[in-house]
Amino acid sequence: MKAIVISAPGGPEVLHLREVGDPELRDEDVLINVAAAALNRADTFRRKGSHPPPPAGASPYLGIECSGTILAAGKNVSRWKIGDQVCALLNGGGYAEKVAVPATQVLPIPPGVSLEDAASLPEVACTVWSTVFMINQLSAGETFLVHGGSSGIGTFAIQIAKYQGAKVFVTAGSEEKLAVCKDLGADVCINYKTEDFVVRVKQETEGKGVDVILDHIGAAYFQRNLDSLNVGGRLLLISMMCGAVTEVNLSCLLARCLTVKASRLRYRSPENKAAIVNEVEKNVWPAIITGKITPVVYKSFPLSEAAEAHRLMESSKHIGKILLVP
Ligand SMILES: *[C@@H]1O[C@H](CO)[C@@H](O)[C@H](O)[C@H]1NC(C)=O
Repeated sequence: MKAIVISAPGGPEVLHLREVGDPELRDEDVLINVAAAALNRADTFRRKGSHPPPPAGASPYLGIECSGTILAAGKNVSRWKIGDQVCALLNGGGYAEKVAVPATQVLPIPPGVSLEDAASLPEVACTVWSTVFMINQLSAGETFLVHGGSSGIGTFAIQIAKYQGAKVFVTAGSEEKLAVCKDLGADVCINYKTEDFVVRVKQETEGKGVDVILDHIGAAYFQRNLDSLNVGGRLLLISMMCGAVTEVNLSCLLARCLTVKASRLRYRSPENKAAIVNEVEKNVWPAIITGKITPVVYKSFPLSEAAEAHRLMESSKHIGKILLVP
């Protein structure tokens, strides 16, 4: 089969389409003929060599989510059969024509979503559901701030939080991106280039702050995120695109009983991933099937143009998800 290989850590130009061996199918895996793989920031970090390589036994190739058709099922797999159309949360290997994945990380294509677009769902659905809802228990009537509202995570988080009855605040870096967030249901749209999000959050919440924040920025926003939280507020870190080290005034943590948690899907155990995928199918899939949540796909590239796709992601000009089609 063909797959994208990384010739050496570096810029997008190190991504090359090469002939490689087929994946090995273990008894608990299914083999998927990939229809599309979606990009994630984690892929660009791996390409640059700033993420550790995948653990032994996992695919050496990039790509942590895909959609496609089942080509084979291991002997311990009962739910899926050859020909089923599915999408999956992968442990790697999505940037390829075929990928093997534990059957517990596979989801059916929600009716109404195209096979290709479904590739954009597993990672955002599992990340947002496991953090904002399973860990943080955002509930109806609460306020929720997601930074980068026009990102893959953001466009999904807005829709699921609205579906669950929360009031949604977003930040983004342009009026065009904020307009998309508003269309997806965001209540308060903050342009971080022209306004201070802490001030705006306070204005919109009678000085109280929001109940839950989903953050991927890290150090650069840490204190300001704490300053934006209501009493009992929860800050959830899923990445640290702008710094890992910062100084914090702990007074606000104590004065307002704040909680800070961090979570990254790729560090979760197989059992944990299976549990999350199961919860996502129960709680998120019905919202997609009824059209309350739609995947936001910005652009598809042929697999051979993975470098171009990475350039687009790193330009941050996109809104929603970027796909690779073998
Ligand atoms: C830390 O925060 C508290 C409460 O907001 C404030 O009173 C105090 O002056 C701050 N300390 C520093 C060193 O900024």
